[in-house]
Amino acid sequence: MIPGGLQLLYLPPFSIIARFFITALAFANLGMLLLFYQYFTGNFNLTPTVHLYTLGFMASTMIGALFQMLPVVAGAVIENAHKKATIVHIGLTAGTIFLTYGLYKFSSGLAFTGLVILLFTLFYIVPLMLFKLFKVKDLKDAPRGFIYALISFLIGIIFASLLVLNFFGVLHLNHGYLFNLHMSFMLYGWTAVLVASVSFQVIEMFFVTSPYPKFITKYLPAFVFSLLILKTLLPEIFLIDFAIGLVFTLYAIYTITRLTSRKRKIKDPLINLWYLSMAFLILSSLFFPFRDKNLLLFLILFGIFVLSVIMAMMYRIIPFLVWMHLSTQGVQKAPTMFEVIKPKFIWWNFYIYLISILSLIFIPLKIYFISLIVFTLNFVFFFVNITRGVFVYIRYRKK
Ligand code: HEM
Repeated sequence: MIPGGLQLLYLPPFSIIARFFITALAFANLGMLLLFYQYFTGNFNLTPTVHLYTLGFMASTMIGALFQMLPVVAGAVIENAHKKATIVHIGLTAGTIFLTYGLYKFSSGLAFTGLVILLFTLFYIVPLMLFKLFKVKDLKDAPRGFIYALISFLIGIIFASLLVLNFFGVLHLNHGYLFNLHMSFMLYGWTAVLVASVSFQVIEMFFVTSPYPKFITKYLPAFVFSLLILKTLLPEIFLIDFAIGLVFTLYAIYTITRLTSRKRKIKDPLINLWYLSMAFLILSSLFFPFRDKNLLLFLILFGIFVLSVIMAMMYRIIPFLVWMHLSTQGVQKAPTMFEVIKPKFIWWNFYIYLISILSLIFIPLKIYFISLIVFTLNFVFFFVNITRGVFVYIRYRKK
């Protein structure tokens, strides 16, 4: 039952990942509330809404997952993980709230407070994670990818800080340049490279597929990072965006072919989520060079790619970790993974999610209400399922 390639001796406390994931889902629901509010008041403000998702939902999930994966996948142990995770969790949550509220209200005081909290938090944990990864000898391809993702994250944060200062008129740098690079490093360097690197490890292991070709696992993260660095020097060259898009299209096609030729052909909502995710990665990557024509469409396509993969991962990780922790703690009759979150609930969530995606066809007609309702249902259901999974752990621990 224990997947190969994992160092489960180093399993960090369950409360770390649980609190990051639950907070991430709370942010996703807060984002829906903000969207409703904006719908009724009639003025849409893109940046705070985007950052409730990219920082609140995505970064909380990704940093929480890294706390888990660094020791287990890479053997890079973070000492005193509980204390460090508490600091990062509080900093990331508070920083995101201040920043997004400050951007929404156009209040420089609030936004700068958020930025400072985020800078302290992220420049504390990201270099620490990098240091731990650099110390590991013979790093596998997946954790080597984490290094490129984390460095891109730091670069993206530096551009973000300049953007905030520009936004409030403290600096007068080329906004378009900073905007473009911040977005590219965050979406492709940080998010997509991290997803790809994680998949190098988990797709084969979770779904019993053939491995990815070596040229992808070994070179994709470094290649994308080099393209992004080239983009900082030659921001006007359209071909670089095109190349980034093509690399991820190729990666997504390889992922889909791994999954279609998997050995165990059981129906599984998580595989469907991976398919969805890869389809939207292809769409968003092909649209990436043309994003100026319709930024919102690009962000929605990319957002569905990330949301699908996060759903696939959380629905796998939480039941697995609850079972794993309870079993190793010697809990009698520990629940199986299927008892932690019942598969039928995951299927229901999958169908609600499919309807949510389909509802987006009304957006070009300026009908937003249907999507707002179904996406809210999706996020509430997702939140409830994951929280219930966490409560299974708490209940058994108390017993
Ligand atoms: C320290 C954290 C961050 C700060 C302070 C920050 C700040 C900003 C600012 C000020 C803008 C430009 C607003 C404008 O000129 O209209 C922006 C845009 C953007 N950021 Fe961030 N950002 C952060 C993290 C992230 C992360 C982690 C992601 C993605 C994973 C991200 C994705 C984007 C995207 C897609 C845009 C373009 C759309 C928009 O205007 O919202 N950001 N960010």
